[in-house]
Amino acid sequence: MSLEASPAHPPPRKFVIAIDGPAGAGKSTVARRLARRFGLLNLETGAMYRAFALKALRAEIPLTEIAGLEALAAETSINLEPGNEENRVLVDGEDVTGLIRNPTVTDAASRVSVFPAIRAWMVRLQQDMGAYGGVVMEGRDIGTVVFPDADVKIFLDAAPEVRGMRRFDQLGPKSVVQPEEVIGELRARDERDRNRTDSPLKAAPDAVLIDSTRMTLDEVVVTAEAIVAARLAGATSIL
Ligand code: DC
Repeated sequence: MSLEASPAHPPPRKFVIAIDGPAGAGKSTVARRLARRFGLLNLETGAMYRAFALKALRAEIPLTEIAGLEALAAETSINLEPGNEENRVLVDGEDVTGLIRNPTVTDAASRVSVFPAIRAWMVRLQQDMGAYGGVVMEGRDIGTVVFPDADVKIFLDAAPEVRGMRRFDQLGPKSVVQPEEVIGELRARDERDRNRTDSPLKAAPDAVLIDSTRMTLDEVVVTAEAIVAARLAGATSIL
């Protein structure tokens, strides 16, 4: 991980950047680039839900049975470690980074994340990880629930068709799925993430909204960097 910081305004020790938004909006790229630019740790909370979903699938626990999922959570440890590109994700010490991005785990992660008990457990873990600050945390509820006092909150959004096409392009030429399938899957996940009763995906009232529908990811990164730099320039009083 690069620890290059902005020389003019190094981030305050407890600085927290929250990046929220739906799948495919570019959160991971933006979070990673902000972390590099400002010398912060990048934490991908979606990977934690994915890792727990993988464990539940392996244990063959029905994803609708909260009692079973809660019992499983009670005996599960999840850790995120910074990596060059994405975080390394460890479940009970096993590195599952390469096993959590397939469609089955993606769907399961969205399902287990609707349960308040599972969310409360994850939120506690995430608050512990970010307790000393110096982090860019990325997810769905970071600015609303995990770190409501975050120094910078960015809500990144884009039209579902655009997000779906970005995901489709990431799959590469060997993929057999059609763009419509990717967009359909993404819409179903959006629906679940936005409509769950406990901490649904929504922008915090004080978040800066970036709609990346007509922007390149580089343009989004430049915009996000400017937002953070402006906050840091006015942040000397909390140093
Ligand atoms: O960001 P992602 O696609 O890796 O997230 C996977 C799922 O985890 C997503 O469908 C919703 C859930 N999630 C969540 O509910 N809260 C978060 N802070 C992060 C992810």
